[in-house]
Amino acid sequence: MSRSSEFTGFYKLPVTERVKFVKDFGNLTDQEEELLHHSGPLSFEVADRMIENVIGILPVPLGLATNFLINGRDRLIPMAIEEPSVVAAASNAARIARTTGGFNTTSTESIMIGQIQVVGVSDPQNARFEILKSTEKLLNLANDQDPLLVSLGGGARELQVRVIDTAVGKMVIVELLVDCRDAMGANAVNTMAEAVAQMIEQITGGRVLLRIISNLAVRRLARAKAVFSKDQLGGEAIVEGIVDAYAFAAADPFRCATHNKGIMNGVTAVVLATGNDTRAIEAGAHAYAARSGHYTSLTTWEKSKEGNLVGTLEMPMAVGIVGGATASNPIAKLALKILAVRTARELAEVICAVGLAQNLAALRALASEGIQRGHMRLHARNIAIGAGATGDLIDRIAAQLVAERKIRVDRAKELLYEFSKV
Ligand code: MEV
Repeated sequence: MSRSSEFTGFYKLPVTERVKFVKDFGNLTDQEEELLHHSGPLSFEVADRMIENVIGILPVPLGLATNFLINGRDRLIPMAIEEPSVVAAASNAARIARTTGGFNTTSTESIMIGQIQVVGVSDPQNARFEILKSTEKLLNLANDQDPLLVSLGGGARELQVRVIDTAVGKMVIVELLVDCRDAMGANAVNTMAEAVAQMIEQITGGRVLLRIISNLAVRRLARAKAVFSKDQLGGEAIVEGIVDAYAFAAADPFRCATHNKGIMNGVTAVVLATGNDTRAIEAGAHAYAARSGHYTSLTTWEKSKEGNLVGTLEMPMAVGIVGGATASNPIAKLALKILAVRTARELAEVICAVGLAQNLAALRALASEGIQRGHMRLHARNIAIGAGATGDLIDRIAAQLVAERKIRVDRAKELLYEFSKV
């Protein structure tokens, strides 16, 4: 019998009651119900305040990438990700990079853009002029909303106004440029955008509709560069292969989506580990990659005069080290402590270095033996666990699956049966 998912006031129930409801709805077993009761380091009390209708906690492995040397400083990188090979690949690329000085990084200030959409303006260019004339008043009003941010040296810095053509006619778009310092800044920016709406209506005679941050954070960029020695990479042919692989991505959006996904494997894992907003970063990254109108690579790869490989990555990186889940999730706090970053910009630069390392590792594998061999070695362990193996049997079965080149659950189950008999 199918049950209704309609439930008013689900949020009012205690977590245990919600779990009972979902158990009944989803025909969960007692053991499955039990899984939902394990909260781990993030208590239900905190989780229940982070989002609505909490019924459990989804654990994701937290790995540690090693070997990173960034601007001359050694860093250990916590990465939260479910995909095998990513942490090992990042560590491997970082090991190669450190022989030539590691990663060099820079960043812009932490400036986010808040957009205010004005519709129903008959004279948009005149409106633009008048809004810009009131810049100081509007910035002051925005800054009145967040005295703490202002006291920390941040706040609304600039105002820009664009008149855009849309399917329903011309629109005036006002943009507040806000220095968010060490916060991701969405709350601060959205509050400011809402606060100036009325004044903008008075100035323009139009009607303000949307008031929201843009995730295309072009004024909050992080950059990383590294030189990878041709000898460490495995020779000049690999360097050329990587440059050709990059050219493929830069020219073709089908390849480029996967190429950039490889970068985001590293980026998103650190963003998640530090309790930051993975969707904001993903949205910004892909929009930035398409900013010319042609979706292209976030990284660049060139061969230097000496025949070594030079890689760069530039991308928006709206991450914070204060507020949000960075403050409430104890593991995110720990990740930030391990990273030992003092500012949001430092975190953004570290993440960018990880993205570059991740891309190098993927391209190097793809341009040589392919990714499946290394990937499958790690994947085999997951298959063994999926087949029911525990303890030592996981590695024994995984090794056998790799040796036989049969990384499949049915074979893992057979091996489990065989190995368990003796
Ligand atoms: C897999 O998660 C990521 C890669 O597909 C990236 C790439 O193709 O560059 C290996």
